[in-house]
Amino acid sequence: MKVTMIGTGYVGLVTGTCFAESGNDVTCLDVDQKKVDLLNSGGVPIYEPGLTELVKRNAAAGRLEFSTNYAEAIEGAKCVFICVGTPQDDSGAADLKYVQSAAESMAPYLEPGAVVVCKSTVPVGTNRKVRGWIEAKTDTKFYSASNPEFLKEGAAIDDFTKPDRVVVGVDDEDAADVVHELYKPFLRTEKPFIAMGIESAEMVKYAANCMLATKISFINEMANICEQVNADINDVRKGIGHDARIGFSFLFPGVGYGGSCFPKDVRALASLAAEHGIEPRILRTVDETNNQQKNVLFNKINTYFDGDLNGKTIAIWGLSFKPRTDDIREAPSLVLINSLLEAGAVVQVSDPVAIENVQAELGDRVTYCEHHYDACANADALAIVTEWNEFRTPDFDYIKLKMKAPVIFDGRNLYDCKKMARRGFYYAGIGLSPAG
Ligand code: UGA
Repeated sequence: MKVTMIGTGYVGLVTGTCFAESGNDVTCLDVDQKKVDLLNSGGVPIYEPGLTELVKRNAAAGRLEFSTNYAEAIEGAKCVFICVGTPQDDSGAADLKYVQSAAESMAPYLEPGAVVVCKSTVPVGTNRKVRGWIEAKTDTKFYSASNPEFLKEGAAIDDFTKPDRVVVGVDDEDAADVVHELYKPFLRTEKPFIAMGIESAEMVKYAANCMLATKISFINEMANICEQVNADINDVRKGIGHDARIGFSFLFPGVGYGGSCFPKDVRALASLAAEHGIEPRILRTVDETNNQQKNVLFNKINTYFDGDLNGKTIAIWGLSFKPRTDDIREAPSLVLINSLLEAGAVVQVSDPVAIENVQAELGDRVTYCEHHYDACANADALAIVTEWNEFRTPDFDYIKLKMKAPVIFDGRNLYDCKKMARRGFYYAGIGLSPAG
């Protein structure tokens, strides 16, 4: 099937590449000439494990092309996916300017009977608007569909090729059949393809992300309570997780969720609810709780040093909002670094892949260290913000030797409290009593 992806961000590029891998003829279109040039020369503009090889293989096989030209990309396509960004505007609502521009630009070239699938996360009701924008530019008959994406950065290819479910919102069964055809190679036994109305599919995406964000804010609140009552959140998590109604996943306490999805989607759904006269109390609280949680490490460090961080050297491990990505959008690390700098601390940071992005944002206000051990040099404390695998089993004796004092604030509960005390560290995690 000839398939076109508009937008070569995470969703567009991963989806397009995986559809090419399953034998379709895919064109990925982007208005950014630089991005398209890079992709045509074998480069990939995002860090996503496994993606570069997959892009190269399918491009070499002639199944995956990149273009800035709408006529070329859209003509003959049976399915056109809109995968452009939906940033938030000043009110927290999703800004649809890129979606509108994609809809209007594709319209003159659409084949009769093509399915226009919106994969971007858009407020409920947007697919109807997309239809209107296209219809204003062409008389060609086409189908509309909403196909929310559930992939996670850092695990995008796996998530896409082994989905738990595929959801499609349509007005017409024929459109659902076309989309189903594309996904069949990835749907293993018992993993359903769920067709529903367009608005319901749009809502599924927000409900899923908001539920996950709610779980995280919930467990973070539990962790904060645990600290005050001498309970251990790791044990509490185990104790509740065995109840199948609760489960274990997405209940890891930490430094607050970041990234380009949860913060934006929680605010966008809250804003949509308010527009419709519903006070979104849960969503607002989830957002607020998360913003506060991003200060949790700073508050602990500041208290430990009696409110005097002036001239203290703090090492930071992990800058990206989560491991296996270089994405620093809404990253808790940035909130911590800014608070530390404001308090007069000297900050030494390290991350396996995100340093360049932080450098672009913070310039020379912090010291960048290639190896995470180097960030510990002469440090009064180490703060762990992202749970990269390379931080899980460090050489503690070496760290101790490098640091001015053996003090660790762990935002991801990577180590065992008692063992850390035995190793001679002061160790404070999230939702645990500090040890040592
Ligand atoms: C999220 C969803 O998980 C995807 O299903 C969805 O498709 C995507 O948003 C999207 O809307 O595009 P992503 O933002 O890539 O994916 O990252 P996650 O792995 O979900 O992590 C989000 C944040 O939650 C991270 O900051 C992570 O550290 C935090 N988190 C996650 C926790 O603090 N605790 C947990 O137990 C899990």
